[in-house]
Amino acid sequence: MRVLVTGGAGFIGSHTVVALMEAGHEPVVLDNLSNSRASVIRRVGEITGSAPEFHEMDIRDQEALTELASQGFDACVHFAALKAVGESVEQPIRYYENNVAGTISLLSVLLETGIENFVFSSSATVYGIPQSLPMTEDMPIGEATNPYGQSKIMMEQVLADVQIANPTWSVSLLRYFNPVGAHHSSLIGEDPRGIPNNLMPYVAQVAEGRLPKLRVFGGDYPTPDGTGIRDFIHVVDLAAGHVAALEGLAGKPGVHIHNLGTGRGHSVLELVSAYEGASGQPIPYEIVERRAGDVAESWADVSKARSELGWATERDLIDMCRDSWGWQSRAK
Ligand code: NAD
Ligand code: WQD
Repeated sequence: MRVLVTGGAGFIGSHTVVALMEAGHEPVVLDNLSNSRASVIRRVGEITGSAPEFHEMDIRDQEALTELASQGFDACVHFAALKAVGESVEQPIRYYENNVAGTISLLSVLLETGIENFVFSSSATVYGIPQSLPMTEDMPIGEATNPYGQSKIMMEQVLADVQIANPTWSVSLLRYFNPVGAHHSSLIGEDPRGIPNNLMPYVAQVAEGRLPKLRVFGGDYPTPDGTGIRDFIHVVDLAAGHVAALEGLAGKPGVHIHNLGTGRGHSVLELVSAYEGASGQPIPYEIVERRAGDVAESWADVSKARSELGWATERDLIDMCRDSWGWQSRAK
């Protein structure tokens, strides 16, 4: 398949581009490089043997996008978005503009150019506070606690309406849990600008000595060690989930919703201890107040993805920490 990949220079996008190429598909990357670097494309080429076609472009640039999309694609995988939760609270217009208006702009071009297979980066955040665990795809959509999460809920709804109006469309909503890790080559990985918001990149920088210590947000959750529990998923397994969704769902009309996680939760302190083991470095930490908007526990029921997409994760928390550390400790 020839696949238009928006945000393909980013963390999850770049790993998915590698997976697509390794599966014999032809991804074409579109990215405005607002949160990534062009060198990622060259590094993808080092991993796969040839760099993918790349266009520095914004999804809101309808004219350029129409010209590109008119070249003929079988599918679009849409990663491009801003994703910092705290920043979205401070800059809601920027987030809705980029994530919601940007996706609508993209969809209108796809409608015009007849690209009917669409894969969307959704998030477990759409479940809000889980009513029960593990989280299943038929659980009701929850309340978003920030504009970033709200943008994902809104886009899921827009996509459902677009599919009703265009019944030949295949829309795949992939709800990611907590993507972490890096490619085992250490050539691509997560490269946050400024102080990381998410746990593993923060821990990685503490291990490297760039940050003095981790602040663990909350030690009084009703969990075995009192810290939050998340379903961390290796980004290479997540990337494979996109290939499985494309291969399994392209040409199958409907809205298809799948959780992408491991189905297992690990606490913040379990991750810290696994990272110390993988890196051989101490991770000093202190337990502080809970962070507003955090849920105590989150992990996926992955049986639907397994049965319908034939996909399951292969990598565990140790693999995630090892590959994150390989990337972090490599001279960039
Ligand atoms: P990322 O920031 O590394 O990648 C996003 C890419 O999109 C970046 O390369 C950025 O430059 C590009 N981009 C942003 N706005 C654009 C625009 N208007 N036009 C063109 N390119 C644009 O983030 P990621 O972690 O790889 O996330 C990819 C997708 O997955 C996002 O939609 C994100 O919301 C979603 N998601 C991420 C996580 C996570 O924890 N990383 C979890 C759930 C869902
Ligand atoms: C994980 C755990 C924190 C940082 C976020 C988004 C979600 C999705 C994935 C995009 C929690 C704790 C963290 C730190 C800590 N993103 N923590 N100290 O909040 O589960 O999900 O990223 O779609 O929408 O909300 O991930 O990595 O921020 O936090 O103790 O410095 O680590 O409290 O328990 P989260 P996270």
